[in-house]
Amino acid sequence: MIIVIDGPAGAGKSTTAKEVARRTGFDYVDSGAMYRGFTYLYLEYDQDRTRLIEILDNHGLRFEFHITEARVFHGKKDITSDIRSDSVNSRVSEVAAMEEVRNTVRQLLRDVSKDRDVVLEGRDLGTVVFPDADLKFFLTADPGARARRRYDERILKGEQVSLEQVRENVETRDRIDSTRDIAPLKKADDAVEIDSTFLSFEEQVTRILKYIRNRSTAAQGSIS
Ligand code: DC
Repeated sequence: MIIVIDGPAGAGKSTTAKEVARRTGFDYVDSGAMYRGFTYLYLEYDQDRTRLIEILDNHGLRFEFHITEARVFHGKKDITSDIRSDSVNSRVSEVAAMEEVRNTVRQLLRDVSKDRDVVLEGRDLGTVVFPDADLKFFLTADPGARARRRYDERILKGEQVSLEQVRENVETRDRIDSTRDIAPLKKADDAVEIDSTFLSFEEQVTRILKYIRNRSTAAQGSIS
């Protein structure tokens, strides 16, 4: 079964997708980690777009997704935490807007999800990557709430950052992600929209699990 959760930065997609994965036993797939991996390479190549595009067929990145764990390697190096750095944060929307990178990531996502039960999170999964996904969700929250959540996460990790900086980064990424020409952030027509501004985490997860249960029951019914 393929379940996709799309939405803007800070809407709670990864925590929600991970919890759904934990409770269903599905594997969690973080598509943003792939764009971040390519951004890491872009920075390694001194932001040389031509060079990045040249190595896309042989990029050396490896993504491992298992239940709630997502790890990224470049060759033998584990770059799971490097892809969350400020430098990657500030460049990732630029790299994610490159058509060649999007084509590569789209194929990687389809390969990694083949013959597997997965819950994936991203921006264009319901619209472009998996238009036939079994279930689609679009998770939103108002921008202030999203910036606050990202800020709290980073402070918890011990990072020195201001709420204003985080808000600016969230707003800039929202603008680039939703206005780019290729695969902009957009709700699929058949996605269930969940606004998490006033929902507790548990309510959010329970809502999604209910859809999954109903969908599984309906699928079993149609087999027998
Ligand atoms: O979810 P995230 O913050 O890790 O995503 C990093 C960036 O990758 C985000 O700015 C938009 C981009 N992205 C995308 O364009 N399409 C996806 N399916 C997932 C992420």
